[in-house]
Amino acid sequence: MSNFRSIILAAGKGTRMKSDVPKVLHKVCGRPIIEYVLDITRSLGSLKTYIVTGHGAKQVEQTVSGDVEFVLQPQLLGTADAVRRLESHVKGFRGTMLVLCGDTPLLSKNIVRALLTKHRRNRASATVLTALIDNPQGYGRIVRDRAGSFLAIREEKDADPQEVLINEINVGVYCFESVKLFETLKKVRLNPRKKEFYLTDVIELFLAADNRVDTLTTEDDHVAFGVNTRSDLAQAEAIIRKRILDEHMRNGVTITDPLTTYIEDGVKIGRDTIIYPCTIINSDVHIGSNCKIGPLAHVRPGSRIASNVEIGNFTEVSRTTIDSGTFMKHFSFLGDATVKAGVNIGAGVVTANFDGVAKNKTKIDQGAFIGSDSILVAPVTVGSKAIVGAGAVVTQHTKIPAYAVARGVPAKIFKNR
Ligand code: UD1
Ligand code: MG
Repeated sequence: MSNFRSIILAAGKGTRMKSDVPKVLHKVCGRPIIEYVLDITRSLGSLKTYIVTGHGAKQVEQTVSGDVEFVLQPQLLGTADAVRRLESHVKGFRGTMLVLCGDTPLLSKNIVRALLTKHRRNRASATVLTALIDNPQGYGRIVRDRAGSFLAIREEKDADPQEVLINEINVGVYCFESVKLFETLKKVRLNPRKKEFYLTDVIELFLAADNRVDTLTTEDDHVAFGVNTRSDLAQAEAIIRKRILDEHMRNGVTITDPLTTYIEDGVKIGRDTIIYPCTIINSDVHIGSNCKIGPLAHVRPGSRIASNVEIGNFTEVSRTTIDSGTFMKHFSFLGDATVKAGVNIGAGVVTANFDGVAKNKTKIDQGAFIGSDSILVAPVTVGSKAIVGAGAVVTQHTKIPAYAVARGVPAKIFKNR
């Protein structure tokens, strides 16, 4: 796919979320909703992606990363007005403009690719993605004549009783030839009922000027799903969560109880790793092959776990690197730690990584043995093959040499093991 640019509309207020956070920044499986839409434009090779911001613009700009251009819509005057804000940014661009909404985390890349392909092949001026759904409430309806030719998109508020019954709806994803789009947007009139300029009015104006307008219709009702409320958010979470788990299973990971396993977006897991019930794995975690994780484990962002590692019951690992063959089997916490290969983390070991001001690091070298119920008050270094006795409290800035033994409260270092 080439020679297309994208516009993501994200200025809306999201009133029904009842939130101080802009709607598109609410997270689904650990990632802001808008990132799922950006995945699509990125992976299809959009030459440039513009995000129209309004409500909470600063927050959106600070959160969304990568090569996007933000365009402010100072007043929420409707979807046509939102697109019109881009006019000065796209001067001279003669290709296709893909328009999407920022609140549709379930939209699939394949359907958008199919829309672009159809638009190209038919050399249309506009191609609209439509969906046949059981409950069309709230969406713009696709009005056709008896022969099935596309006539208009009618917003629910403006629809007559016949039109309200139509169950083919406007998803809110379109391809437009950019030059014609911006010419035509100038002609869109304010909708008297809603006091907004409707992007959907461009369709009738295109048809009146004998421009070719096509539709691509899907029966997948997930495609049109936009998040408007907290319960929509939970529904999207459930669907994407299942997709993520299915993908890990396809890649050779055993998930013994998908119903109680939460794996966020952006997690890598090697084959033959087993994830036991009630386990939560956040974004930005890599786990190697042949590991055993859980039950009841929480692996938090920034953790890198090699192969053949066991992380057992009631454990939490955060921003921590663990090399192969290390065991941490029972109720322990490792935060900001680097743990080399073949280490045994006994039951109840805690890295006290926060001193009230800063997060400090713990380093545990190869083959060390950390006894049960010991506390490593970071920063702490444990040398290779060293032993920390059960119940020891190793205080800040302690460096336990290789092969040494540390025990007691506060821990004292004894010579060789
Ligand atoms: C819009 C479509 C409707 C379609 C539906 C799909 C119009 C007139 N109607 O209706 O046909 O079925 O989406 O979900 O376009 N936005 C801005 N600036 C604005 C207004 C909206 O950026 O001034 C953004 C919103 O943040 C949102 C998107 O545009 O991402 C759609 O706006 P929304 O108000 O939700 O439109 P709908 O009434 O749902
Ligand atoms: Mg909407």
